[in-house]
Amino acid sequence: MSTQSKESRPEKVTTQTVVEMKRKGEKISMLTAYDFTMAGIIDAAGVDVILVGDSASNVMAGFETTVPMTLEHMIYHTSCVVRAVDRALVIADLPFMSYQVTAKEALISAGRMMKEAGAHAVKLEGGKAISPTVKRIVDAGIPVMGHLGLTPQSIYKFGTYKVRAKEEEEAEQLIKDAKKLEMAGVFSIVLEKIPAPLAKQVTESVSVPTIGIGAGADCDGQVLVLHDMLGLNKDFSPRFLRRYADLHSSMTGAVQNYIKDVKSGDFPNKDEQY
Ligand code: KIV
Repeated sequence: MSTQSKESRPEKVTTQTVVEMKRKGEKISMLTAYDFTMAGIIDAAGVDVILVGDSASNVMAGFETTVPMTLEHMIYHTSCVVRAVDRALVIADLPFMSYQVTAKEALISAGRMMKEAGAHAVKLEGGKAISPTVKRIVDAGIPVMGHLGLTPQSIYKFGTYKVRAKEEEEAEQLIKDAKKLEMAGVFSIVLEKIPAPLAKQVTESVSVPTIGIGAGADCDGQVLVLHDMLGLNKDFSPRFLRRYADLHSSMTGAVQNYIKDVKSGDFPNKDEQY
């Protein structure tokens, strides 16, 4: 249980807060987290939105794609994050095949994410095809974030993680999809790896905030995978990624120093024992 008094607790970010931030022209910061410790650090640092992304499949579980992630995995990670967070809005990805078969099944999955994990909202990948499903979930009182452009759950359809919607036809469809999602009731839309001018056009075409990853500066907010921006993944260097730390080197150095001290008998010293 939190030890903070009610008065000292920060004002919680809600779905209405982020919509209002777009209206006021205030940029929205979003990062992923998958566990209690990391979520606590980024929440206390002041990030607005925490996404429990199914990128947990890659960075936590070591799978090559997000396809193997199950609803149970996502509920576990989301519950760990929710327990750490005082202020940020916590959004959980619905994993592959937990929402695509029927709208009823999608609603059951979204409901479990809210009831069992304590998520504040869910995110679904796709446009026109899933907009009736989005409406069904929203109508039940569950906020939904959309996700367009590069949608990693469809990697086997795309065959590549390259930039999407460079051709006019796909770009036009993406704008239509964004409007469909808005009409279905999403409170926000992630735009992943699309040309910056297209992301600007989408951002200007919808009233809900867009959150970009590899989609340029004109989105209403930005999201990065935490492990990537902290420099924990040495081998992943897409153009859109800015690294704010080199934790891979720091951790390697710390572990090597520990090993050296254990081997030499320097650790523990007499002040580090009972
Ligand atoms: O799973 C994830 O981390 C995501 C972000 C990249 C937007 O969907």
